[in-house]
Amino acid sequence: MSTSPYKIYSKELGPMENFVYLVHDLKTDTAAIIDPAWEVEEVLSMADDKGITITDILLTHSHHDHINGLNKTLEHSDARIHLLKPEAQFWGADLTRPELHHGGDRIQLGETEINILHTPGHTPGSACYHIGDELIAGDTLFVFGCGRCDLAGGDPEQMFHTLKRLKTELPAATILHPGHNYAPQSPSSTMQAQCDGNPFLHFDHEHDFVKYRMRVHDRIRETPYHEVTKEEAMASINR
Ligand SMILES: [Fe+2]
Repeated sequence: MSTSPYKIYSKELGPMENFVYLVHDLKTDTAAIIDPAWEVEEVLSMADDKGITITDILLTHSHHDHINGLNKTLEHSDARIHLLKPEAQFWGADLTRPELHHGGDRIQLGETEINILHTPGHTPGSACYHIGDELIAGDTLFVFGCGRCDLAGGDPEQMFHTLKRLKTELPAATILHPGHNYAPQSPSSTMQAQCDGNPFLHFDHEHDFVKYRMRVHDRIRETPYHEVTKEEAMASINR
């Protein structure tokens, strides 16, 4: 029986319920920190306590609430920063040791392979990180929600196609780890549960999705997000 080469830890930090993740490669005791922000010291000291060296920093996107612990993390660890090239261009920041990727690239962390998906919609270069049967999704997909598309660089048409791709390409058992805790109970979920109850995965047509994302959703839902059936989602855009 094969055992997983890695373990994922998470901490919910800051006033916006952000998750900071640590992917620990068990063989080498190295780790990637994902979206270092807020009281990131808590994650850095957790790594220290476990004897783990942080070698890589992975960014799902460049919004302030996902990167405001970047400098503290760089002071703590000589880590490389990974993000997608279109996000670096959108952001325009002068980064230390950046590695700019394209969708489909892989990052090798000891024996752990991290696959990078380009998932535009929330920002032009948003990324999801696919590790084993787990997906670290940033602000692309939340438990029963998805990221806003009305901020600079957002694009609801792109988000529609991004989510359609995640829905069709990821196995149903994939565990979803979102960028914010908007969930009613367990902070993570499965793709199966999302396909069943995430309203953003219910729309078959781009124009319906765009209407729901841009004009309907924020009027009728608030966090924590609960399950929505396909019938309920369709009814809400036809009201
Ligand atoms: Fe964001």
